[in-house]
Amino acid sequence: MSRSKRKIDHINYALSTATSGSSGFEDLTFVHQSLPDLSVDEVSLHSKLGELNLSSPFYINAMTGGGGEKTEKLNEGFALAAKETGLMLSVGSQMAAIKDSSERRSYSITRKVNPKGIIVGNLGSEATLDQAKAAVDMIEADALQIHLNVIQELAMPEGDRSFTGALGRIEKIVTGLEVPVIVKETGFGMSRETVKKLENAGVSIIDVGGYGGTNFSRIENYRQQRELTFFNDWGITTTASIVEAKSSFSSSVIASGGIKNSLEVIKALSLGADAAGIAGAFLKIVIDEGPEALVEEIQQMQREQKVIMTALGARNTEQLKNTSVVISGPTYHWLKSRGLE
Ligand code: FNR
Repeated sequence: MSRSKRKIDHINYALSTATSGSSGFEDLTFVHQSLPDLSVDEVSLHSKLGELNLSSPFYINAMTGGGGEKTEKLNEGFALAAKETGLMLSVGSQMAAIKDSSERRSYSITRKVNPKGIIVGNLGSEATLDQAKAAVDMIEADALQIHLNVIQELAMPEGDRSFTGALGRIEKIVTGLEVPVIVKETGFGMSRETVKKLENAGVSIIDVGGYGGTNFSRIENYRQQRELTFFNDWGITTTASIVEAKSSFSSSVIASGGIKNSLEVIKALSLGADAAGIAGAFLKIVIDEGPEALVEEIQQMQREQKVIMTALGARNTEQLKNTSVVISGPTYHWLKSRGLE
């Protein structure tokens, strides 16, 4: 099967395959404060991810890859929505376009549509420094995501079977690239041990890509009409991943994996994340209703987040990190058994 066809299948199955399990946000309850001493128009949504200045603490995470007309149309829609709302946008894996220059349009369209926005490139951990530089040049990227997707590869019969040397390649890219590197998971979460290794390799921004949202094991099993079920419930939830990461990583942490609404964005930030990435939920809106609907959704989320922050008495996203939150259920048990409660 061609890479392009497989990527289109991923989009269709991501939309139709029910995401299972939970990212853990229902385990978090804010401690209500009756005297926030704040008004909505005093609240700032600004957030910093290393040297990247975000006007809102959430963004459109990497989706699609493999090129083709459908990818181009989707990327155009995401770029339009990002431009209209000021959100950061990550494109999907650019490897196909690095190998075949006729695919480049599907990615460079994002920069054409949104010349001044924050746009992030994307490659897998098999990439070399030269490929990383080419990915950045292709879209004049402000940063580059390197995705880790061991489980997805193992779940695909045609997927990679060797994962050696990834950390060394990441270190070379971090050292040799002029823009920041974001190392991200793709729905199975990150442990503090993984995050520590990345920090030692010089990585300054990680995206935990936790369990509970888009699930590439389920997508692959569904796509191939088979049931290698052992990976379907594999992974660290997004909430547990954020705490794992914060416990051993001193730089910027992005929360993603199953984030669907403003309350979950704010909960992720209250655990210490600096921003939240949303993929599947935004993909569904763009495909079902088009880019204008995504603009409306994002604008609504921006308004809602200011309202929630007002209730919590948090004037800005830094203050959100001091918010009192009670952790219960599976997230509590995970943190307790890992000595992180
Ligand atoms: C993805 N994701 C992804 N990630 C990445 O780093 N490079 C890629 O090319 C893709 N491609 C891709 C295609 C489709 C159709 C989906 C839905 C997702 C993974 C994505 O960025 C994110 O890590 C996961 O989807 C988990 O977040 P959500 O979807 O639960 O918000």
